[in-house]
Amino acid sequence: MTGDDVRMYGILPFTTRMTVVQLDSGGVWLHSPVRPTPERRRAVDQLGPVEHLVAPNKIHSLGITPWKALYPSATVWASPAFNKRHPDIAVDAALTNDVEAPWSGEIDHCVIDGHAVLDEVGFLHKPSKTVIITDFIQKHEAAGESWFWRGVKRMAGVLGKDGGVPVDIKLSVRDKTAMRRSMDTILGWDFDNLVIAHGHCLRGGAKEDVSRAFDWITGA
Ligand SMILES: [Fe+2]
Repeated sequence: MTGDDVRMYGILPFTTRMTVVQLDSGGVWLHSPVRPTPERRRAVDQLGPVEHLVAPNKIHSLGITPWKALYPSATVWASPAFNKRHPDIAVDAALTNDVEAPWSGEIDHCVIDGHAVLDEVGFLHKPSKTVIITDFIQKHEAAGESWFWRGVKRMAGVLGKDGGVPVDIKLSVRDKTAMRRSMDTILGWDFDNLVIAHGHCLRGGAKEDVSRAFDWITGA
């Protein structure tokens, strides 16, 4: 579900996407929730009650509080460092690798270790063979973008369908071995599709695409 456009670092234009999963329980799992407008809320309500809110890294905090206000019984799951950055947002459970969630039978997760700043958690929706990535892979739409930002995003490696891991993420790796281990885990998942928070998603062919995006660290 498309969210509002935002400005990263106050200037860089980003489109945003919330990933919505209907669980076997009949409840709804919201990944990287965007602002809940009446229209978005209606679309989510048609699928079922919101049971889980997921903040997949410490930057993506935007919709947690407003959705939690609408669905007070929803469980808030957040990346390992989220609470340190947002002590004002109540988190029910940190998404470490060993945590077992009620949705773990349908959705696998893996913390991408080894980055100096970002504590992203990747997900696999097993029934649809879809990997869900937030900031570690970006493929920003070129259409409608100014020549200036297209140029900046091309240089950052995040423009269009060939986008991948942003250069600023590549430049701030703390522990290559740990990151390689995480990316190997994700590449070992059984998936064909990719959903990301910023830009083009992929239906089919995602294993090859993610493998290419991660090859700077996996050496594949
Ligand atoms: Fe982001």
